[in-house]
Amino acid sequence: MATGEQIKSLVKCFLEQDEERFMSLAVQIAAHEARKGHGKLAAEIRGLVDKARALSSTRSAAKPVPLVHPRGDFAGLFTASYPDLRLSDMVLENALRIRLERVLHEQRARDKLRSHSLEPRRKVLLIGPPGSGKSMTAAVLAGELHLPLFVIRMDTLITKFMGETSAKLRLVFEAMTATRGVYLFDEFDSIGTHREMPNEVGEIRRVLNSFLQLLEHDQSDGLVMAATNHPQLLDDALFRRFDDVVEYQLPTPELALRTLKSKLAFFGKLQVDWDEAVTYTEGHSYAEIVRACADAAKAVVLSDRNSITTKDLRIAFEERDVAMRR
Ligand SMILES: Nc1ncnc2c1ncn2[C@@H]1O[C@H](COP(=O)(O)OP(=O)(O)OP(=O)(O)O)[C@@H](O)[C@H]1O
Ligand SMILES: [Mg+2]
Repeated sequence: MATGEQIKSLVKCFLEQDEERFMSLAVQIAAHEARKGHGKLAAEIRGLVDKARALSSTRSAAKPVPLVHPRGDFAGLFTASYPDLRLSDMVLENALRIRLERVLHEQRARDKLRSHSLEPRRKVLLIGPPGSGKSMTAAVLAGELHLPLFVIRMDTLITKFMGETSAKLRLVFEAMTATRGVYLFDEFDSIGTHREMPNEVGEIRRVLNSFLQLLEHDQSDGLVMAATNHPQLLDDALFRRFDDVVEYQLPTPELALRTLKSKLAFFGKLQVDWDEAVTYTEGHSYAEIVRACADAAKAVVLSDRNSITTKDLRIAFEERDVAMRR
């Protein structure tokens, strides 16, 4: 058996994410076992190391090309980032969590699915009111899958590249094939809304048609997501091209309470009547609840107090209400 020192070194390598040293230690342990006449155990350890090495080389071959500052043809087309968010950072209704977990599961097991001629879910339409977590979801999926997130704002694309939007869209789809990532077409409804403007109708039609064609023929390996507040403005043809349509809502009181608690948890001292506090969240989105919590915390820090009270939250939400009514 491996000695205590060897186990300690292995754990240390794991913590320091020193993969190479981890493997060489494992090989040393295998040799040590072989010397002691434990040939079977030694062969098993070596087999595991070989497997791990093969896995790690496919993983590094599949590593995305860093594209953090899009340049040249891509400048102004999208923003790129490597989000560090996880599903556990979101407050989600159970059914919604299960839908997102399924996308993640299918993506993680895509090789297995493909070996059975099955395609993983990867074209996802997100629908819901402002501040309900659509953009955050794309960041969470990128974070969970260790992929870069590329955000293409459709409204900017259309206004910035009027007349050549379709060509730019094609470029984005080409980038998708070259670099595996999560590609979010945000503010997607601008394709729908702009349709009502007579002088832009031709352009919008062309953009929508190109998008439909590109999406239909897209064979890339990452996730293609689109987010919209106004699904009624989108065509049925568009809905059909997505593998999944995920709907977001404003938080129920229970989810609002969870959001309050999770956002205030970092602030050691709380003197909050939760039943009362949750009534302030009514009609507010997740985004507004998160902001109100931050406002309440800031007010406490700046007035040199050390605990957040129900009243701090009430004031923060009242201020949000006033701001919203303006
Ligand atoms: N379900 C959630 N759980 C926790 N925080 C959330 C959730 N939804 C939204 N938030 C918070 O609100 C912020 C804004 O949310 P997000 O940008 O995802 O909203 P959206 O649905 O894309 O809105 P919009 O339609 O305005 O683009 C997030 O950065 C996060 O802080
Ligand atoms: Mg958004």
